[in-house]
Amino acid sequence: MSTDSKHNQTLAALGTSSVDEVHALFAELRARFDSDASNVTDETSSKALRDAWLGRKSGVLTLVTDNWLKPAAPDLKRVVGASLNELRAHVDTQMEERRLFVEAGAAAAASTKERIDLSLPGVTRPIGTHHLIRQVFQEIEDIFFSIGFSVVEGPEIETPYYNFEALNIPEHHPVRDDMDTFYLELPKGTPGPLLLRTHTSPVQIHTMEKRRPPVRVIVPGKVYRRDNPDATHSFMFHQIEGLAVDSDITFCDFTGTIDYFVKQFFGESVKTRFRPSYFPFTEPSVEFDASCIFCGGSGTAKTGGACSKCKGAGWIELFGAGMVDPAVYGFVHYDPKKVSGFAFGIGIDRLAMLKYGIDDIQVFFQNDVRFLKQFP
Ligand code: FA5
Repeated sequence: MSTDSKHNQTLAALGTSSVDEVHALFAELRARFDSDASNVTDETSSKALRDAWLGRKSGVLTLVTDNWLKPAAPDLKRVVGASLNELRAHVDTQMEERRLFVEAGAAAAASTKERIDLSLPGVTRPIGTHHLIRQVFQEIEDIFFSIGFSVVEGPEIETPYYNFEALNIPEHHPVRDDMDTFYLELPKGTPGPLLLRTHTSPVQIHTMEKRRPPVRVIVPGKVYRRDNPDATHSFMFHQIEGLAVDSDITFCDFTGTIDYFVKQFFGESVKTRFRPSYFPFTEPSVEFDASCIFCGGSGTAKTGGACSKCKGAGWIELFGAGMVDPAVYGFVHYDPKKVSGFAFGIGIDRLAMLKYGIDDIQVFFQNDVRFLKQFP
C-alpha cells in the first residue's frame, strides 16, 4: 500500500500491532511530509502543504488522529499519541520555516526588481552655451571694465522724453524719421505715449539724473526700430552705449578710448576710420567704420559686382559717437561750463558679424542650433 493513503486506514487494518511498527509508520509519514515540504517555493505551494497536512477536516494529521489514534488498541494508544504530538510539532516548525523562506524569497525578488542599477549611464541633458551676442557683450564689457567703466541698464520701454527730447531731439526734428519706431497701444486713460527704445542713449539721461560726475558707464541692451530686415538690418538689435563725463575730458580721451577698444576687440589688423556725422546729442559727432572683412575693404564681391555686405563702400559702419552736446547737460542739471564728456552707441550685432565672419545678421535670431553650436 502506498504511504500516501495509509492514514485513511486504521492501525488494525494496516496490521500494525507493535510499538516498533507504530514508530516505523510515523517515520514513514514524517519522511513524506519532509518531501512535500521541500517542494514549497512560493505562497501557493505553502498554502497547499498547510491544507494537505493541517486541514481541519481532511488534513493528514486530522485523519491520523481519527484513524490511528482514536481507534488504537489501548496498549498502543500512548505511543500513537506521543508520536502524533511529535509529528505535529515537527510539521508546525517546518511550516513556519517554509513560510519564512517563502516570504524572504518574495522580498528578495521585489528588491531585485526595484533596485537601482548604478552602473547604468545617467540621463545626460545637453548643456547650452551663451548665444554669440551674449558672448560679444561679455567681451566688450570686459574690455571697458579694464579701463574703469561699469555697467548700468535701463528700460526697454521709454517715454519720448528720454528717447528723444532730453537727448536734444525735439518733436518734429527730422532725425526722428530715421528712428521711426514702435509705439505701444495703451489702455485708455494711461499716461503716454510709450515706445520701444530706438537706441540705448536714453540711459545716458537716466544715469546722469541719478549720478554726479565723474561718470564712466556702459549700457548693454536691446533696441527696436522699424527697419526692413536685410543682411545688416534687423527690427530688433543690440547696442552698447558708452558715456564718460568728468571735469576735463577731451576729444583725445574719446579717440584714445575708442582706439583702445577696437584694437582689443579686433586686433591690430582691422582698418578703422572716423567719419564726420550728426547726432543732436553729440557735438562734434562721428561715425566709426571698420574695413569690410567680406570683400577685404575693396567694395567688390569675389564674383564681381558690388559687395552686398558693405554695399560697395568697402567699410561697414559700427557705431555713432561724439562729445556730449552741452545742451544735453541742461536736461540733467550738469553745468556745461564745468563738465565735458563723450558718448558712443555700438551696434553689437554688426560688430559680432565682422569679428566672426557672419554674413547675415538674421542668423542671430533664427535659433538654428547648427549655427549656435559653432560658438560654444
Ligand atoms: C545711434 O543709435 C546713436 N544712439 C548712437 C550714439 C550714441 C551716437 C551716443 C552718439 C553718441 P545709429 O542709429 O547710427 O546711432 O546706430 C548705432 C549703431 O547701431 C549703428 O552704427 C549700427 O551698427 C547699429 N544699427 C543701427 N540700425 C541697425 C539695424 N536696423 N540693425 C542692426 N544694427 C543696426
